[in-house]
Amino acid sequence: MHLNRNDEDILAGELGAVKQKAMEILVALGDIYEAERLIPIESAQIAGVSYKTIGDAGLEYLSDLTGSVTVPTMLNPMGMDRYKWRQMGIDESFVEKQLAIIRRYELLGIDAQCTCTPYYVKAPLRESHLSWSESSAVSYANSVLGARTNREGGPSALAAALVGKTPLYGYHLDENRVPDISIKTDFPLTGADFGALGYVVGKIVHSRVPQFSFVTPPSDDELKALGAGMAATGAVALFYADKRATTSEILELDRSDLDIYSSSEPDVVVLGCPHCSRSELTEIARLLEGHTVERPLWICTSRFVAERCRSVISRIEATGAHVICDTCMIVSPAFEKRSMMVNSGKAFEYGPSLCNSHTVIGTTAGCINTACNA
Ligand code: F3S
Repeated sequence: MHLNRNDEDILAGELGAVKQKAMEILVALGDIYEAERLIPIESAQIAGVSYKTIGDAGLEYLSDLTGSVTVPTMLNPMGMDRYKWRQMGIDESFVEKQLAIIRRYELLGIDAQCTCTPYYVKAPLRESHLSWSESSAVSYANSVLGARTNREGGPSALAAALVGKTPLYGYHLDENRVPDISIKTDFPLTGADFGALGYVVGKIVHSRVPQFSFVTPPSDDELKALGAGMAATGAVALFYADKRATTSEILELDRSDLDIYSSSEPDVVVLGCPHCSRSELTEIARLLEGHTVERPLWICTSRFVAERCRSVISRIEATGAHVICDTCMIVSPAFEKRSMMVNSGKAFEYGPSLCNSHTVIGTTAGCINTACNA
């Protein structure tokens, strides 16, 4: 990979050992994927934040880092709500470690907004290059916002944030952004159906680039759910939803292919994977209107969105539901080993493996109904 003079200086350690190590990671990646050069990035987003997932080894790794990121950088969700951790039943030893992790990131100049929807805080420009590591955010950035990012790991996104560049390969290049399989759904889909569709399609297409034709155009929230599901059961980082089938391979699905919904008597109902938008919170408040929550109902969103939706959240919490920020049902220890009902294809996939939780999926209305009728 070609490096310019400045890149060479960083690699030689002239800007310190931490940036040197970061450049070594980027050069190794560039060599593996035969990148021609490094390109500047607009922003970075780093996964590997919850103490539940990175543990003491992750905290130790972060403690050795000094210096500062060179582009705006945000974090993925951590293991608890920064203020409501007691309510979540998180113990103090976890809190101490979690806050130490956040402090380490903040010392590197990172904005400790912990969310998988960083695009609600600041949407990237179309065609901008990013280094994001949350798979659902990668999918949304590439597919809905028209930006360009690979599915980075936490360390490579952090390395890119420190250097301000990423190797030019994968989804940064036009030739890798061409759809190669068409998915036809000639039946109406709404709301959580898109998460279920993503769950099903991801298992079939793995890491390909699907293009969808829908009966009616999905909303951005529905595309978010679709992308999150495909990113979890497959490794889809880019899809198209606005094209007629142009590929030679076409997959036709019918309604029965999405028949993964079930009802149950879960310990807890959790919504907000990925983190809820304002319109999703508004819909949840509408569905809860006039009801009282009888079974624990938790709703995950970003602090940025929550601060802008205070009256909607008051309406939700008046029914007995809890809105939490900075965290989610998968990366928090609060939901481990509890049977869970979700409205998200991604949480449905990860609940059993990452939370040891018996997990079922329903529509948003089905989840609210289950929470209100224990
Ligand atoms: Fe976000 Fe957690 Fe789902 S990070 S995409 S809410 S698994």
